[in-house]
Amino acid sequence: MNHPQRLLHITDFHLGNNQGDCLASVDCDASLIRVINALKNECCDGLLVTGDIAHYGAESAYRRLQSYLSDISVPVYMLAGNHDDMASMQSVFGDLEKELVLGDWQLILLDSNESQCDYGQLSADELSFLETTLQSNQARHSLIALHHPPVDIGSAWMDAMQLKNKQAFFDIIDRFDSPRTVIWGHIHQEFDQQRKAVRLLSSPSTCSQFLPRSAQHQLDRKGPGYRWLELNTDGSVDSGVIRVD
Ligand SMILES: [Fe+2]
Repeated sequence: MNHPQRLLHITDFHLGNNQGDCLASVDCDASLIRVINALKNECCDGLLVTGDIAHYGAESAYRRLQSYLSDISVPVYMLAGNHDDMASMQSVFGDLEKELVLGDWQLILLDSNESQCDYGQLSADELSFLETTLQSNQARHSLIALHHPPVDIGSAWMDAMQLKNKQAFFDIIDRFDSPRTVIWGHIHQEFDQQRKAVRLLSSPSTCSQFLPRSAQHQLDRKGPGYRWLELNTDGSVDSGVIRVD
């Protein structure tokens, strides 16, 4: 019998070209290291990274991440955000996995990036991949990860950068019973809502935070953090956010 799967969600590191580079006065490397050190105290089955690893897509940033994760013994699942460069990312981490079985769950990782854009868009190939993958594994519960939010979060400036073709995304999700959770990065804040049978989640960045429900870009003074997810065998999900500092 399978046991629940415990994942830790870390996202939006925004590592600069050099160690010590700052974003909104936060040293992104130092802040990420603090978060990684905090989550090392937790037992888990894997880490999930939902993009914006490197602020400028530099290969040097991915190499630094690789070294920061070097003593993490569980698998790290990752996808790219709008700030990432897929070629640089792959040169360090190889081809990124897009579909995994985790006990009674399947994890689907989607690329929601539209070239040179801050907003998201799932290509026809990605939508087709989502549909085919859900179709072929209906006995498992599904956790679907992407970088861009597929719903309004109540911040006008950020909602302008959400997933543009979210309706096409949910049209597929709604055709299946297996999707239980959708999780994303990009918004640098905690988010937890329910849409029909699907729980919608996002998490703090490991660097600077955006103030929820602000019409324009505004920083939040909350500390960096990560999210834990307990994927239960009955398809339910327990989850919470841990702030560091
Ligand atoms: Fe982003």
